[in-house]
Amino acid sequence: MIIPIILMGFYVSSCGVNDLNRLESPDKSLVLDIELDNGILSYSLKKDSKNIFDKSVLGLKTDKFDFFDNLIIKDTQFSSSNSKWTQVWGEQKVVEDNYNQLSVYLENSVTSLDMIVHFKLFDDGLGFRYQIENQPEIESFNILDEMTEFNFSEDSPSWWIPAYAYRRYEFLYANTLISEISRDKFSELVENLSGDRLGPEAVQTPFTTQRKDGITIAIHEANLTEYSSMTLKSTGTKYLECDLIPWSDGVKVRTKAPFKSPWRTIIVGNNPSEIAMSTMTLNLNEPNKIEDVSWINPGKYIGLWWEMIGTNQSSWGSGQHHGAKTKRVKEYIDFGSKYGFDGVLVEGWNLGWDEDWCCTGDGEKFEFSTPHPEFNDKEIAKYAAEKGIRIVGHHETGTQIRNYESQLEEAFAYCQRMGIRVVKTGYVNDGSKNIKRVDQNGDLHMEWHHGQYMVEHFRRVLETAAKYEVSIVVHEPIKDTGLRRTFPNMISREGARGQEFNGFMPIDAHNKPNHTTILPFTRLLSSPMDYTPGIFNLKDYRYNSQSDRTINKNHHIPSTISKELALYVIIYAPVQMAADLPSNYEGHPAFQFILDVPTDWEETIVLNGEIGKYITTVRKDINSDDWFLGSITNEDSRVLNINLSFLEDGEEYNGTIYKDVQNGGWLNSPEEIEIETLLFTNKDSHEIILPEGGGQAIRFTKK
Ligand code: NOJ
Ligand code: CA
Repeated sequence: MIIPIILMGFYVSSCGVNDLNRLESPDKSLVLDIELDNGILSYSLKKDSKNIFDKSVLGLKTDKFDFFDNLIIKDTQFSSSNSKWTQVWGEQKVVEDNYNQLSVYLENSVTSLDMIVHFKLFDDGLGFRYQIENQPEIESFNILDEMTEFNFSEDSPSWWIPAYAYRRYEFLYANTLISEISRDKFSELVENLSGDRLGPEAVQTPFTTQRKDGITIAIHEANLTEYSSMTLKSTGTKYLECDLIPWSDGVKVRTKAPFKSPWRTIIVGNNPSEIAMSTMTLNLNEPNKIEDVSWINPGKYIGLWWEMIGTNQSSWGSGQHHGAKTKRVKEYIDFGSKYGFDGVLVEGWNLGWDEDWCCTGDGEKFEFSTPHPEFNDKEIAKYAAEKGIRIVGHHETGTQIRNYESQLEEAFAYCQRMGIRVVKTGYVNDGSKNIKRVDQNGDLHMEWHHGQYMVEHFRRVLETAAKYEVSIVVHEPIKDTGLRRTFPNMISREGARGQEFNGFMPIDAHNKPNHTTILPFTRLLSSPMDYTPGIFNLKDYRYNSQSDRTINKNHHIPSTISKELALYVIIYAPVQMAADLPSNYEGHPAFQFILDVPTDWEETIVLNGEIGKYITTVRKDINSDDWFLGSITNEDSRVLNINLSFLEDGEEYNGTIYKDVQNGGWLNSPEEIEIETLLFTNKDSHEIILPEGGGQAIRFTKK
């Protein structure tokens, strides 16, 4: 039940006076102060009396009016709300939405125009947004700059990926002080950022930093709708500025009144584990808009995929090694059906792959309802239905947006006809201002992957998919900002470096063992991820080329089978892929964990974690009493002691443990695994021994 209580309101008529307004979080740990100083509005934030953010300015500048200086506070309104809501699927079933709100009613004393800034303070962080109501002088306008600042009180180590870079969000993370953020630093520490320097020095969100006292802070946004995405501009100091990805003409946002910006979010926890359990981003999104959700199903899938991107034995396009041939697809369906998978992904099923589809936005036009002649869609649809499997469709667009949008309705209508309930979409291209947009006059413009043009495109696809009862898994997406609450058919997305980099990249550019110990505290704060774990054949898996079918000995995935299993618990996704080839699973004892692990949870607890070092997560199945544990480490071996108090009191559990062998690890014996079952109660503790780059996965079942 939502109980808005207006606690107080007051009128301040003149600028130039220091006006202090204060808001506390429900547990009083966070305190927000609002200040108006010489007509400029700012906020600051404390946690347990420690300054987290020093005075940070707020405001908007548009082509017609500004809300930056000359502001007066006309009124402030306080309210509180405490309610609960249930997820369609998720890391936890019930989410508590408990916050105190302060709405600041502002007027620009020169233009007499009004704006409201809403602040919501939760126990796990702060969200704020700008709102401009209909007013006589305001119709459509262009935002030229959002002035929001994030003035950290401490210059602390941070984990970030660059914005305005060619490979969108698909980078390993840099770890530097906030003041050290720069592309040069990224090139020095992580990967040489070649190519033209377009755009400012800025980082993507979620952006995470941890202070000396352990307090961990992540900046992101919620409900990114009809706006461009926010990056954080570095200044060479501990202070970051909101930087909106522009349209090709430099305008940041094209909009009109009534207008609401996305929420700017600051997640705050005492440690990394706390921020990984934050629900604030979801709470700042609107409730589910899809009435009948019976067609939105979590589950697991296999697919005709790793043999293209990983093992190099098949191709997406036509030719001798074309993968998506009817017979081969049926073999995958047989395997999926035998082991109770929900879906089989098929890439290369359609037309468009034969000429230069990758990385330029040019090339052949993809067709989304015309199968490749070697893929008998009707026969496969019938076969899959008989075997209780659903084909997971695939729409690689090559970011030919106009081509995709012109086929959108038909593309998803085709899915519905074929019984396809989940589609993986893809936007491979150089993301640096390289996406073609043709305006009403037929003129061509080149847009950024993360600007408003693409934000709106992604939404159009999501809503069209919903109309045809299709859920989507977006690769090369726009980042999630909690939209999955409003549209639960937004079932997963990539938006980070996934397993694929261990396929197509040379060994020195594979994901490092620490990558998956950073993701839970950065990218995964925003949403589920289609990382596609579960590779068992970690060495000697890749052909030199499709024609030279000898093994390229230079490939070695920096993981272990136990770690691959643990990732099913660590990385949340309602639809998880078992990414390896069926032949690597058949008969393998560790495969049982992939079959057992659920993808929809009643409860999640991050038991421990240090960013870039290790993490242990436990989750309780929504459909049974089982608990699952995943624990992983970076390149260092370590021993973690965990307390099993999360198990039900008075019950005994069989814990089936999947672990690396002694002195194993990603270098020594990545493919060796030990499986044992021990008896546990919630009074016990458990010692997790992790070798270098290793992991451990446990299924706890009631005895
Ligand atoms: C990149 C995606 O991440 C990958 O999963 C997909 O197979 C290729 N693009 C082709 O669409
Ligand atoms: Ca990708």
